[in-house]
Amino acid sequence: MATSGHRAVLAGLEAVVAENLERHLACAEDWMPHEYVPWSDGRNFARLGGEPWSAEQSKLSPIARTALEVNLLTEDNLPSYHAELVRTFGRDGAWRAWVNRWTAEEGRHASCIRDYLLVTRGTDPERLERDRLATLQAGFDSGGKPPLYACVYTSLQELATRVAHRNAGFACEDPVAERLFARIAMDENLHMIFYRNLVKAALELAPNQTVRAIADEVGGFAMPGTAVPGFARKAAQIARAGIYDLRIHHDDVILPLVRYWQIFEIEGLDAQGEKARQDLAAILGAQDARAARFVARREEAQGSSRAARS
Ligand SMILES: [Fe+2]
Ligand SMILES: [Fe+2]
Repeated sequence: MATSGHRAVLAGLEAVVAENLERHLACAEDWMPHEYVPWSDGRNFARLGGEPWSAEQSKLSPIARTALEVNLLTEDNLPSYHAELVRTFGRDGAWRAWVNRWTAEEGRHASCIRDYLLVTRGTDPERLERDRLATLQAGFDSGGKPPLYACVYTSLQELATRVAHRNAGFACEDPVAERLFARIAMDENLHMIFYRNLVKAALELAPNQTVRAIADEVGGFAMPGTAVPGFARKAAQIARAGIYDLRIHHDDVILPLVRYWQIFEIEGLDAQGEKARQDLAAILGAQDARAARFVARREEAQGSSRAARS
């Protein structure tokens, strides 16, 4: 689509943004992050006369620690996400009000995950801080996505983040962490609904271009945490642990959105829209097959490690 076409979609969605911002504000609860942190577990570190951090102080399993670090550092990169959204959606009207509100809500996620990790001594605070600096210095670059593509990407990303937080909370095996991550996941769910509704409206406004954007974004999706040091290795560990893997991504993130958008029921697509829909069907089929192979390999590996232990 030419730049003028993207601008027209952006302008056409303005009223939908205003309407959905209002809906969002009516159902978003102003919850208090400090209420979710077990402050009485905390104590000073070395510089204030306390004990330095050491691994045995953490009650988290190594994989829960990794999942929390990745989720936290991903949230930490908020300045970059904000800049990308302002560049994509502009600085005016309802878009601006949404982006600022969204940023304010996202800001509490990193702060309360960090508070939880620090007071419970869940992870090495020095490494975490070094990784935070590295993550923010790398920044996040969406590759200059046009607004329509950004709305599809953020729908997928918010839902992926919701699932990743919820499952990371379970992995902690601590009811306090579980409650904290369930609360954060509720925010991500509302964010997902906002963008999901914009994409639904875009399908009415520009169906052929929107199906193309969905096919391209589903096919090329990458989590926003790629700037986190060691992301690929950590994401593989998280997948092996079943916290966030290809099967979850396909079944719990991609499919619910594709179904909600009713891509395979839309009538009246032109040749390009139809081609985009066929591409999407092929991408979904390939992702499903990759997910099945991944799960089979994981089960095989778990079976052989069980056999080696017995
Ligand atoms: Fe978040
Ligand atoms: Fe979010």
